[in-house]
Parts: sequence; C-alpha cells; structure tokens
Amino acid sequence: MPIETTNHIWHNGELITWDKAQIHVMSHVVHYGSSVFEGIRCYKQPGGAGVFRLPEHMQRLIHSAKIYRMPLPYTLEQLNDAVVEVIEANGVTPCYIRPIAFRGYGEIGVNGLKSPIEVYIANFPWGKYVPGNEGADVCVSSWNRLAPNTMPSLAKAGANYMNSQLIRMEADTNGYAEGIALDTNGYLSEGSGENLFLVIGGTLYTSPLANSVLNGITRDSILVLARQMGIPVVEQALPRELLYICDEAFFTGTAVEVTHLRSVDRILVGDGKMGPVTTALHKAFFDIVNGLAADVHNWLTPVKVHEAVGV
Ligand SMILES: Cc1ncc(COP(=O)(O)O)c(C=O)c1O
Repeated sequence: MPIETTNHIWHNGELITWDKAQIHVMSHVVHYGSSVFEGIRCYKQPGGAGVFRLPEHMQRLIHSAKIYRMPLPYTLEQLNDAVVEVIEANGVTPCYIRPIAFRGYGEIGVNGLKSPIEVYIANFPWGKYVPGNEGADVCVSSWNRLAPNTMPSLAKAGANYMNSQLIRMEADTNGYAEGIALDTNGYLSEGSGENLFLVIGGTLYTSPLANSVLNGITRDSILVLARQMGIPVVEQALPRELLYICDEAFFTGTAVEVTHLRSVDRILVGDGKMGPVTTALHKAFFDIVNGLAADVHNWLTPVKVHEAVGV
C-alpha cells in the first residue's frame, strides 16, 4: 500500500522534512540488512490521543540494537520524547509510528562496527493490515521461522523480515491473507508479522519465546488482559495440527491488533466466526486503546495533536 506522507521525520535529534530523510546507496544497511526498528500505534481517544505502550516499544528497540552491538546514542526517555515530538509536529492521529536505527554510510565490509548509527522516527496514517473484518483466511507457510542461534528472533531487525517476506509473499500468491510459519522443529511459531494465539476448551495457548517468535507487545498485553479476566493462559510448544482442531485462533500485533482467523489451509477454525474468548479479549483491548475503559496499566502516552486527520 502506498505511504501517506507527513511533513516531518525525526533524525538524530532534529525534525527534518519528509523528503530530506534520505540515505546513500553505499550505506551499510542497504547491503547487509543492519537495521533494527519498531512499529507503534497512536490511537484517538475521546479526550485526545495516546501512543500504545511507547516505553515498551522503545525499550525493545534498544534491546534489538544491543543484541547487534549498536549502542543507540539516546536514552529511553529521549526516544520516547522524540516519538511524541514527531507526532505533535505532524498533527496526524490515529497513526502508525516507525522508529528505525541502522548502520549508515562510512565503511564497506560486513563488520559494521565503525559505520555511523542513524536514528529516524516517522509517523503516518495506516489502516488495517490483514484484510477481512470477517476474520483472516490463512495458511501454514512452507517456510520455517528463523532457526535458533542464526538470526535472533527477539531482535526486531530488518534482516529478519526477509524471512517474513517469503512467508507473506507465498501466502499472498496462493490467495491467503497471511502465512503461519513453523519453527525449525515443526512447532507453531508466528505469522510474518504477528504472534499467534489458540483457544482450546476455554484456555488460551501461545507459543513461548523459544519457538522463534518476536516478544510481541500486543502478545504481552493480551496475556495481561487474559490473566486479569481469569482466562487460563498456557505458554507451551504447540503442534501444527492444533490449528485445525482448536476452538478459536487469532493473531496479535501492532499492525493487525487482534484479528481472528476464520480458516487455516481452508479448514474452518471452529465455525469460522470470532469465538467468545477472542471476542472478550478483542473488546478489552479495543476499549483500552480507544479510551472507552480506564487505562489501569498505564499503557497510553498522551500526545497533544490539534488537527486530527483520519486514517
Ligand atoms: C515477526 C513479528 N511477530 C510478532 C509481531 C507482533 O509484535 P507487536 O505486538 O509488538 O507489534 C510483529 C510486529 O512487530 C512481528 O513483526
């Protein structure tokens, strides 16, 4: 989908115009995939707008960078403030926020330790990611997720998304909204850009971090909400065939939010409709982000935007 541009992008501590945010073709990141990034949503609430779990996202960015020996020259607080600054400067809510740090122009060669680290933060309007409000028709991908001790799954690194692209393009080519990848041992892992949940007999299941998943912030939010609502939660390795016999299944992620799966490999999940556990969690999540329920977990960072532009 085409990007809807905004006026400003934050770069290394300053706001620059959208068109000035350019890099050299010989930058390290272009050749070796050396970037780490985040995807964050800012929601509109009745009294204004708020960024969902901003510190957790920026902490994950810092952690992704740390894994790749890319010390970011900004504190967590400075990065949080930078996100608020760029949203307020652009005056666009609701919006999607894309902070990215990468190894820039300096040296050639795989070892990027001497290349400068650049940090940019953009925001722009962006709607639903997985098509279909009636639930997503997905497939199990022929591609596996990243093997342990190859590309670290807990780092949200640009290079990991080459694997995600294979999963997503294959699904798209075969007429599915998304693909679910197995890990290298054949257990359920995650979608190309989403964590996966199953509901079986009223219990909520999700793959643990050791099954090559990203430590999703929406995943964590759903686990918190489920425990708070008294829904039993189990994190364990899950065999593929549970997808076909579970009662409910859904994806979570900043882009997809909470999206139920209607079918997997053309086999209906339950009766194909959003089931009661998913419905309850979906409502609890959207009530908080839309400001209809009290933000008891302090998940929203307020932003002051004068002129709101709809997605
Ligand atoms: C591979 C992958 N898994 C899971 C997720 C969900 O993570 P979050 O809920 O933090 O957006 C994402 C999105 O960032 C992702 O790219």
